Amino acid sequence: VLKVTEFVTANEMANMMDIPVTQIIASCMSLGLFVSINQRLDAETIALVSEEFGYKVEFVSLELIDSIQEEEDDPATLKDRPAIVTVMGHVDHGKTSLLDFIRKADVAADEAGGITQHIGAYSVKLENDRQITFLDTPGHEAFTAMRARGAQVTDIAIIIIAANDSVMPQTVEAINHASAAGVPIVFAISKIDLPGANPDKVRESLANMNYLVEDWGGKYQCQEVSAKHGTNVKDLLEKVLLEADMLELKANPDKGAVGSVIESTLDKGRGYVATLLVQAGRLKVGDLILSGSYYGHVKAMFNERNQKVESVGPSEPVLILGLNGAPQAGEKFHVMENEKEVKDIANKRQQLQREQGMRAQKHITLDEIGRRI
Ligand code: GTP
Ligand code: MG
Repeated sequence: VLKVTEFVTANEMANMMDIPVTQIIASCMSLGLFVSINQRLDAETIALVSEEFGYKVEFVSLELIDSIQEEEDDPATLKDRPAIVTVMGHVDHGKTSLLDFIRKADVAADEAGGITQHIGAYSVKLENDRQITFLDTPGHEAFTAMRARGAQVTDIAIIIIAANDSVMPQTVEAINHASAAGVPIVFAISKIDLPGANPDKVRESLANMNYLVEDWGGKYQCQEVSAKHGTNVKDLLEKVLLEADMLELKANPDKGAVGSVIESTLDKGRGYVATLLVQAGRLKVGDLILSGSYYGHVKAMFNERNQKVESVGPSEPVLILGLNGAPQAGEKFHVMENEKEVKDIANKRQQLQREQGMRAQKHITLDEIGRRI
């Protein structure tokens, strides 16, 4: 029995049956098909050809290679994990400043033009010893996809609205992303130290969108803050933790890690670097990781303060070296055991991508030709 996907090539089939590829091509020819070595065969051809060589085929779904099946965790293995909290909102409404205050850092001051252009991921230990992972998203309208990705990996969203500016387009967008992802929202009305601050106008705008805040008798938690002076930030964090408690967030910390890619790039000195968010399991130096069509052993890991770490657990972000490419942000990653399996899956995915790319290109040219006629 041969286990194949519908997309197997003539060459791959030959390898699986351990015969020269010329025999596959000849067999196809006898069916009236002229195929090349790397051509993908349709299901019927695959079945007929393998039958000729004494094999039965079993088609496995493409999903098997596209999304690695995750086994359900035994409830006994689950332990509490920190909440992942994404800060979202309109450009310049104070997301990075709020996180800077919480982290006692000064990221906002170093940003080009004061605009966040990527997702920052920070693990913060609060005064009461509880830990939260914060994701800082860009507010600029150009970064819709990043906000959407932030909303997808998060447990809770802080939607920040500047009291001197009220609800703006990317505020609405952020609320929609969080709602679409089914993520609980805590509103932060920021910049209340400014002379033009009008927090009630913000509450009113939210009410008009059907988001009635608690202090007005609704169900949404809301906190006025000033990131500049740190006013009420503690109260905001308490509300976030309350929300986290209700979610009873748990994960199995003792298995191979799975999680999501926050971002990845090619660094001149260090090769491919990727910021990952571990969602379950424990990621260790030396682990074999597969993400999209890229893979590699983790060579080194660094926390957000650029300190080397040996392992990270659920809800923790980490920067890793060692992948052989830059997987797309939002892509899942898995720690795997079998190197051959990893390479096979990565190659399959690459091939499919290439093919889809080619199809897309073809489509464009045909389209253009059509238009010319
Ligand atoms: P993007 O990431 O580009 O969307 O912006 P952001 O939401 O991260 O805003 P950022 O924290 O960079 O703050 C924008 C500007 O507002 C900066 O000049 C901050 O100093 C200022 N700011 C932020 N929070 C406060 C606040 O509570 N009070 C006052 N007065 N200024 C603030
Ligand atoms: Mg920012």
